[in-house]
Parts: sequence; C-alpha cells; structure tokens
Amino acid sequence: MLTGLQHTHSLLRYIILIFLVWTVINAFLKKRGNKPFLVLDNKLSLYTFILAHTQLLIGIVLYAISPIVKGAWAMGMGEMMKSSAHRFYAIEHLIGMLIAIALITIGRIRMKKAQDDTAKHQTIFLYYLIALIIIFVSIPWPFRNLGTSWL
Ligand code: HEM
Repeated sequence: MLTGLQHTHSLLRYIILIFLVWTVINAFLKKRGNKPFLVLDNKLSLYTFILAHTQLLIGIVLYAISPIVKGAWAMGMGEMMKSSAHRFYAIEHLIGMLIAIALITIGRIRMKKAQDDTAKHQTIFLYYLIALIIIFVSIPWPFRNLGTSWL
C-alpha cells in the first residue's frame, strides 16, 4: 500500500500543478478583461480544489504510515531538526501543504461571496496563485536531495 500511495501522491503533483497554473492564468486573463464568471470558470477552480483535497487525503495516510515520518518522530525533536530530510517530511512539507490547501479552500468560499464577476476572478487569482507558489516550494523536487525522483 505504501508504494502505491507514494506513486499516486508523486504523480498527482503534476496534475495539480497543471490545474493550478491553468486556473490562475484563466482567472488573471478574465479579471483583466472584465469577463463574466462562467460555469466553466467555477468548474475549473472546483476541479483544482478537488485534486488538492484528494492529495491532502493521500498525504494524511502517507503521513501516518511513512517510514521517514515515523523515523523523524522517533528521533525526537532536537535530532529531527538537525536532519533536513526528516525535518522536511515531518514538518515543512506538512505545514506548507496544509497552508496552501487551506488557501485554495478559503479562495473558493470567498469567490462565492464576491460581489461581481471581476471580484470572483480576482479572488480565485490571488488565493490560487499564493497556493501555487507555496505548493511549488514545498514539493520535494529531486534537486533538493531529499531522496526523491521526478515520478
Ligand atoms: C498539493 C499538495 C501536495 C503535493 C503536491 C505533494 C507532493 C509530494 C511529493 C512529490 C512527494 C514525494 C513522493 C515520492 O517521490 O516518493 C511527497 C511525499 C510525501 N508527502 Fe506530500 N504532497 C502534498 C501534500 C501533502 C500533505 C497535505 C501531506 C500530509 C498531510 C503530505 C505528506 C507526505 C508524506 C508523508 C510524504 C513522504 C512519503 C514517503 O516517501 O514515505 N503531502 N509529497
């Protein structure tokens, strides 16, 4: 189960990034052009929201069963903080992703309450853009030497 979840979690990152970039660019262009907020715009941000929450659920399960996370907490806080890979998975990745997914959630709630269509695009643009940046920097990319690969 662990390997299957790791692969799904790893692959899903690309789908989420594609959808986030798509949603942000779409919201930016439509906000700038004062375009109406269509059913399709709502669906796009909804699909991105669902993907992020699916990743969150897989992440929670991974967090509970991952050997690296178990190893990190077994080390004790002081030692864990000195080991960048353990600290990353036990704390940094978790906190960064939770903040990003919370922003996506708040963004959608605030979008629904926005007064007009331009404000809806603006809300999605802002919240999803910040989430995109946080997710991008919180991913254990192979060049960060955290023991991961591209897939
Ligand atoms: C959009 C959100 C997220 C993205 C894009 C993401 C992405 C990734 C990637 C690419 C890996 C490396 C997988 C590999 O190469 O083996 C990973 C590992 C991991 N993620 Fe996430 N993650 C997200 C959210 C979360 C959340 C919210 C949690 C915890 C609640 C979490 C927990 C973990 C854990 C524990 C691992 C290490 C698993 C292991 O190798 O044992 N992730 N994540």
